[in-house]
Amino acid sequence: MTPLTLIVFGATGDLARRKLYAAIAQNVRAGLLPRDTALIGISRQEMDDAAFARLVEDSIGGRWPSSSPPQYLAGNADQPELYGDLAGRLKGERGLHLFYLAVPTQLIAAVVGRLAEAKVGRNRGRVIVEKPFGVDEASARTLNRAVQRAFPERQIYRIDHYLGKETVQNILVFRFSNGVMEPIWNRGQIDHVQITAAETIGTEGRSDYYDQAGALRDMVQNHLLQLVALTAMEPPAVFSAEAVRDEKVKVLSAIRPVRTEDAVRGQYQKGQVAGERVQGYRQEAGVAPDSTRETFAALRLFIDNWRWHGVPFYLRTGKRLPERATRIQVVFNKPPLDLFEGAAQMNVLSIHVQPEERISLKIGAKRPGLGTHVDPVDMNFVYASSFRSASAEAYERLLVDATLGEPTLFTREDEVEAAWRALDPLAQRWDKEATCLPYAAGSWGPQAATALVARDGRFWLEP
Ligand SMILES: NC(=O)c1ccc[n+]([C@@H]2O[C@H](COP(=O)([O-])OP(=O)(O)OC[C@H]3O[C@@H](n4cnc5c(N)ncnc54)[C@H](OP(=O)(O)O)[C@@H]3O)[C@@H](O)[C@H]2O)c1
Repeated sequence: MTPLTLIVFGATGDLARRKLYAAIAQNVRAGLLPRDTALIGISRQEMDDAAFARLVEDSIGGRWPSSSPPQYLAGNADQPELYGDLAGRLKGERGLHLFYLAVPTQLIAAVVGRLAEAKVGRNRGRVIVEKPFGVDEASARTLNRAVQRAFPERQIYRIDHYLGKETVQNILVFRFSNGVMEPIWNRGQIDHVQITAAETIGTEGRSDYYDQAGALRDMVQNHLLQLVALTAMEPPAVFSAEAVRDEKVKVLSAIRPVRTEDAVRGQYQKGQVAGERVQGYRQEAGVAPDSTRETFAALRLFIDNWRWHGVPFYLRTGKRLPERATRIQVVFNKPPLDLFEGAAQMNVLSIHVQPEERISLKIGAKRPGLGTHVDPVDMNFVYASSFRSASAEAYERLLVDATLGEPTLFTREDEVEAAWRALDPLAQRWDKEATCLPYAAGSWGPQAATALVARDGRFWLEP
């Protein structure tokens, strides 16, 4: 196994402490990363290597499993001095240098610029860049150029952790390894598609970031559009990173600009989530009391290509919704003849991404007994019962892929730009909105979101 040094910028941050160290440790334990994986943490807070090792062990709730103890460099990632020190530390480290940029997005260009100036990384390095990648198409393009000045595109890994989820990777396997799916996966057989990514949490101490971003930039531009792309893309000719990403870019580029009347933005007010009273968004610490930032977005999207012409994709996401769940629901047309009097089903294929990991197909079945009564029932594939092994955490898989140089599950430069392009006009209009529709915490968003779907004679589906 190639020796590995992981350099985490943002070493004291929420992401590093909650996800990254645990993912690195688990991969080392599982033998997926070298036993002596070196970790160098960087942020401004002063501390020595021993204190950092304690921070890492507190984060993972156990012993650091690598034979190489964690190292720490305190410094401002914006300033050149830090990079001289870093170059010194890296001199002794063999193999691959993987730079993980878990810092606020405004710092990314500075960090890669300094890495390039200090000639750190380019030869033996790869860089992982966290989302959000820019705030619109223009800023994403500028950031792409900045990162590419420091690293060639094949060494850049833009992370969207949804792509590391087993259930998300399974979308392509489900669609393209089964002969029955593709012939019915089109506008001839599909009435519409719903994609829901619901959170019960509020801003969880990330108000500074969230109040700038909002639901559209935080969730739709990346996670939801990735799910749209995987659901809607054409089969690639081969299963390679470039072929898969080519097809995703084509879908993203075919998204019709979203009209104002096809989008609903909401902001949560006080309410109850899972039996607990919670405050409204404007009362959260760090949120301006007159903020009009959306915490909920519902959209009706159209993809203007032959496969999907006229098929609506309804997307919704929000904070403080009644459940934590991400799912894709593909709703098929009714049979042409209603043979059993009112029992014709619109079969629904549900891909449950999280927290449940399963795929179900709602079908009509004869209720036992006299007469012919049809009831909807579920055919179910449940990950946990079909496969013994538990799904790996998304960050575990993505870290391994980045060390192996496998970019399929990372977003390419044109992909991230195409995703912004699809939403920019709407995001810009929303930035100027002086109001945001209220919804009670614990509800499914503003009434207008129900109306968005009801207008087409449809309704949001339950799990
Ligand atoms: N948290 C998540 O669940 C999550 C999920 C997806 C994506 N992300 C992305 O991941 C990145 C980090 O998020 P986070 O939630 O971990 O943020 P955070 O908790 O605010 O942590 C930011 C980190 O960056 C360091 N930092 C800030 N300015 C610095 C500077 N000038 N020089 C050196 N270090 C600096 C901070 O340490 P010091 O203040 O000590 O310097 C801290 O370690 C962001 O881009 C975010 O959008 C986060």
